[in-house]
Amino acid sequence: MSDVATVESDGLARVAAASTLAELRAVEQELVGGKRSGLAALNSRLGQLPIEERKEAGRAVNAARARVEAAIAERAEKLAAVEREARLEAERLDLTEVLERRRAVAGHRHLVTQARDELEDLFVAMGYEVAEGPEVETDWYNFEALNMPPAHPARSMWDTLYVKLGAPESTLLRTHTSPVQIRVMQRQAPPIYVVAPGRCYRRDTPDARHLPVFHQIEGLVVDRGITFGDLAGTIEAFTGAYFGPTIHSRLRPSFFPFTEPSAEFEVSCIFCEGRGCRVCSQSGWIELGGCGMVDPNVLDAVGIDAEEYSGFAFGFGIDRCAMMRHDIDDIRHFIANDIRFLEQF
Ligand code: PHE
Repeated sequence: MSDVATVESDGLARVAAASTLAELRAVEQELVGGKRSGLAALNSRLGQLPIEERKEAGRAVNAARARVEAAIAERAEKLAAVEREARLEAERLDLTEVLERRRAVAGHRHLVTQARDELEDLFVAMGYEVAEGPEVETDWYNFEALNMPPAHPARSMWDTLYVKLGAPESTLLRTHTSPVQIRVMQRQAPPIYVVAPGRCYRRDTPDARHLPVFHQIEGLVVDRGITFGDLAGTIEAFTGAYFGPTIHSRLRPSFFPFTEPSAEFEVSCIFCEGRGCRVCSQSGWIELGGCGMVDPNVLDAVGIDAEEYSGFAFGFGIDRCAMMRHDIDDIRHFIANDIRFLEQF
């Protein structure tokens, strides 16, 4: 009898001391679990008792087992509650910051939208109008009218996302804002001075400098007597206006099917102001976009007389502009929706 009492009080103490569910399960195994548990051992000793005592001792063992099991169940419930609470505490998301801010601040335009609006304003101040076109385009507007017939090798300059609509590969997400050039020239006779900002799509893997969805701004001028000098001067004017008077631009020969001649334009690195640093790979220049004189074939495609009119076009990344001006090192910040990033601008 005293052994029963000892096993029970020992057991109860160990149950009370268990501080995690796992620990309690181990204690339970030792006390009431298998054949070798403490109470099972007492049971097996019953056989050695004289019959008269066996019954009473058996009852005592069973009662002790019942009390130990009840204590385990109670302890398990308490430990489960504690562990649940700890887990909830650990997983808790503190949303109060957002709630409190919402009361005080209405929010503001996204940095990319701010950059787009500012660039639009710059060009409007120079006499341009703002044009728009659809993000879902046909192959004709995105490529063919831009002097890239089907299977033209230059099409591989743009990794294209196609839309399942109509004939295979006839409908796509525009890979640049250049199709807006075509739409503008179709609906409007020269003189044309427009900029067309908007979203573009390419089959790119996201990294610090690329997103499959990004923003461009397109410029198009068609008038009598437009020269390459006008193009260079326009680019110098807007880069200085957007990045500041210490920043200058330069053109480097390049190729686009819809402009001839074509160029890439670069601005002096805004981080080192042209002296050479890590960001510009010591060159002092950062590439911003493409440009050139509108190819006569493009004017032909929309029925503008290339003998009478000439023009220039340019296109560049809005996201890239905002990154450069605000020293942002990863384009993915723009879409991560981290309020701590967004509220800085
Ligand atoms: N559309 C070209 C691009 O996305 C840029 C460009 C626009 C080049 C206009 C020349 C003229 O790469």
